[in-house]
Amino acid sequence: MTELLLTEIDHVAIAVPDLEAAIGYYEETFGATVDHRELVESDGVEEALLKVADSYIQLLTPTREDSPVAKYLEKKGPGLHHVGYRVADCAAALQSVKDHGGQVIDQAPRPGSRGTTVAFVHPKGAFGTLIELVQE
Ligand code: CO
Repeated sequence: MTELLLTEIDHVAIAVPDLEAAIGYYEETFGATVDHRELVESDGVEEALLKVADSYIQLLTPTREDSPVAKYLEKKGPGLHHVGYRVADCAAALQSVKDHGGQVIDQAPRPGSRGTTVAFVHPKGAFGTLIELVQE
């Protein structure tokens, strides 16, 4: 048996074409407030994190046409993009994915937003869900 490598749901990421409109929706409808905003140039996205207990709702919008989130919006429209699982050790969790025959997008952990270390796991081999492993 593999020991539990996930410590929390870190975030649920939703791709949106209009970040301000989506923030407004969550603020007005659910009273959620923005805890952190960041432009992640390397991923071609701007994100807003709204805190819910120890987890976040991550609203994502593309900053350029060739960003993966832009392509996602074009193909599928706005909606659930990925789930971020918090882990104590990103490298160890990524290794476990590889050891169990999973497909990874990032071969090694890399810097994520808010100073985290992250790695993405391909939805193929993960039952159709893009997974982000997030180490704080
Ligand atoms: Co994410």
